[in-house]
Amino acid sequence: MTQTTANEAPSETGEASSREWDAESLGRRFEEVRGRTEALAAPLSPEDQTVQSMPDVSPTKWHRAHVTWFFETFLLAEAEQGFAPFQDKYWFLFNSYYETLGPRYARPDRGLVTRPGAHEVGDYRANVDARVRELVDTLDGGSLEKLTPIIELGFHHEQQHQELLLMDIKHVLSRNPLQPVYAGSPVERCEPDRLGWVEVEGGLVEVGHEGPGFSFDNEMPRHRQWLEPYRLADRLATNGEWLAFMADGGYERHELWLSDGWAKVRGEGWSAPLYWSEHDGVWFEHTLNGTWPVNPGLPVAHVSFYEAEAFATWSGKRLPTEAEWEHAVVTDGQGGQHGRDEQVVGNLADGGSFHPRPAQPAPAGSRLRQVHGDCWEWTSSAYHPYPGFHPPEGAIGEYNGKFMSNQMVLRGGCALTPAGHARASYRNFFPHGARWALSGVRLADGGAPA
Ligand SMILES: [Fe+2]
Repeated sequence: MTQTTANEAPSETGEASSREWDAESLGRRFEEVRGRTEALAAPLSPEDQTVQSMPDVSPTKWHRAHVTWFFETFLLAEAEQGFAPFQDKYWFLFNSYYETLGPRYARPDRGLVTRPGAHEVGDYRANVDARVRELVDTLDGGSLEKLTPIIELGFHHEQQHQELLLMDIKHVLSRNPLQPVYAGSPVERCEPDRLGWVEVEGGLVEVGHEGPGFSFDNEMPRHRQWLEPYRLADRLATNGEWLAFMADGGYERHELWLSDGWAKVRGEGWSAPLYWSEHDGVWFEHTLNGTWPVNPGLPVAHVSFYEAEAFATWSGKRLPTEAEWEHAVVTDGQGGQHGRDEQVVGNLADGGSFHPRPAQPAPAGSRLRQVHGDCWEWTSSAYHPYPGFHPPEGAIGEYNGKFMSNQMVLRGGCALTPAGHARASYRNFFPHGARWALSGVRLADGGAPA
């Protein structure tokens, strides 16, 4: 993700390599990940794929090209004999934010690029796909082992962009008065079920990635944190609860808001979550499944950190810290730390809902619900480096570390997150006022926020 957007990640040396890879399994995984991107773009016309509806949004075809550029730049340029770029100018056009690699096209203007078109981006993808497969199949064992971390990083990078592609096209389609549907179908109207609380003892705990599974560099080093005893809500806050917040003057009462948040409410004229609109006294919500009356039993989505924080204040609660969230999830048996062979469960993109669903019972032996999937959960933690963090050398060191200011951490994944791309130690991040990410709220209580 990006600068003002969320993460991408780390290093030819910085991230933990997840498993034993060989040429065959790398090639198979490469095809799976690349094929998934194309499947997500398939319902979209070339015109759909060209639009940039605001500076934070990138066109679909840009995502498809940029993830291809990533493999071309960080893998083929390093290892392919006689390497030459597919198109010289693509390096300028599809570099996202890597200063080390030279100048790049202005992000807010990505929607002005009509050429290459979506089909030509497909040609670019096919060319790089064939060259990567050829490279992987012909490398000797030592070279393959050396390059495996960057190939695996490319998989996870592309998965991040699969999620962004969906978030971004949701915003693009929201601007169309014809209310187009991307995919999926809505859930029948339902009411919020009972909110439970999960007590956590706290104490001196360890957080951060461990074990053989993949992680980005920002999830490490693993380190100790002191946690006072606390409680976490066993599910996400719902639309029904958000409607009550609104009815109680939530967006009109300055005392509920941080000063910066109140300025944003006034400046932007916020009166409801992004994608909500009121018609004849009824609130509607734009989703990738179409535009429907707000369903009270679904998790509230597309709220900023400021709104999440104000809602927590109104509720007499608070947001969890990221350490509280991670420790609670791991001790609840929902860590998913060991790579794609032990995937976490939840309403993730591969389920095809493309929207949060009502809370279901927790997995067997666990108490927290909606931990992975549905909505990214705002925490009260600023996005800072863990103690002992050092970005890797070179361009790839720009993946995460340079974005560690003025953003807040979100945890858990969402309904647009690919399966295999969610885990307890995953640190997503967005600026305080961002609302186009699929972000929601889990309340916390007790303890002492760090
Ligand atoms: Fe990227």
